[in-house]
Amino acid sequence: MSKIWYIGKVKITNKIVSAPMAGISNSAFRRICRQMGAGLVYAEMVSDKAVVYQNKKTLDLLQMHEEERPIVQQLFGSEIKTMVQAAQIIYQHMRPDIIDINMGCPVPKVAVKNKAGCALMQDEEKAFQLVKAVVASVPIPVSVKIRSGYDKINAVAIAKVCEKAGASAIVVHPRTRKQGYSGKADWQIIKEVKNNVKVPVIGNGDVLTAEDASNMLKETGCDAVMIGRGLLGNPWLIKECLDYIENDSLTAPVTLDEKIKMMAKHFHYLLEIKVEKVAILQMRQLALWYVKNIPHNRELKQMIVKMKNKKDFQAIIKKCQERL
Ligand SMILES: Cc1cc2nc3c(=O)[nH]c(=O)nc-3n(C[C@H](O)[C@H](O)[C@H](O)COP(=O)(O)O)c2cc1C
Repeated sequence: MSKIWYIGKVKITNKIVSAPMAGISNSAFRRICRQMGAGLVYAEMVSDKAVVYQNKKTLDLLQMHEEERPIVQQLFGSEIKTMVQAAQIIYQHMRPDIIDINMGCPVPKVAVKNKAGCALMQDEEKAFQLVKAVVASVPIPVSVKIRSGYDKINAVAIAKVCEKAGASAIVVHPRTRKQGYSGKADWQIIKEVKNNVKVPVIGNGDVLTAEDASNMLKETGCDAVMIGRGLLGNPWLIKECLDYIENDSLTAPVTLDEKIKMMAKHFHYLLEIKVEKVAILQMRQLALWYVKNIPHNRELKQMIVKMKNKKDFQAIIKKCQERL
């Protein structure tokens, strides 16, 4: 089985993809995912209208580092005019390799208020017109990330519609809007989508171990596996998956020293793209994930939730190093 595959003309050298996660999949996170070996990284969603109205926070999200390529920038919205304008601005501003249309987000602000994300799956004709217009507006491939359906399951029908409209890949997170992130992702739906379209299919949902990634590839026949929550505090999972699926080998467990260095690197990268106050707020959440499995971590966790500046972060790193 070749590990090389393509989305349009974009060459992807392995089968592990990092997921778009709002508030997490920024440039700092994606650089780390690439360094761990991800074949493709997805950037968190941005709103079409926020891009078109040149919202400063949104334009800041479009920052990327060359080492992240190949990179996909995800876009959400529901109106053809603003989706097309936003796709063109993103292309000009950031030059991602691929643009993704979000047809999976279940959160009310996106799916109900904006009738975007997963809500687009309710109307196949509208989904077709939207994908067709975005595909025609940029000279790069467009992927579409879908769920199983909004209320009723129609992933196969929507995937076919997207393919007909010119999408170059489909990402499937097989849960309905109602399910949110609860219950188990139904991988059978990934298999059904894969069997019904010719473009590559990226499977997603509940991959937490290298074995999960291998099983998803085998059970569904998907072209690649996308990982989201499994990477929180554990970007090494990407390397573990690659070692396992490519060489059938198990990676040595991550050491405390590696965890400390990764946490420091993540903060350092965040400071390159965010002001200290914002970087610290993000780091509070990220650091809790990094120290999750360190034994006797109560005091560390208390320091993390209270940290206010770089000095506090350094104190946390020092506290961790005392354990080495
Ligand atoms: C905090 C968080 C933010 C997310 N943001 C996005 C997003 O911006 N766009 C998107 O398509 N999916 C988003 N998702 C969904 C993930 O991309 C992925 O589909 C989902 O988490 C299932 O994969 P997993 O089981 O590997 O986590 C988000 C998920 C989480 C947990």
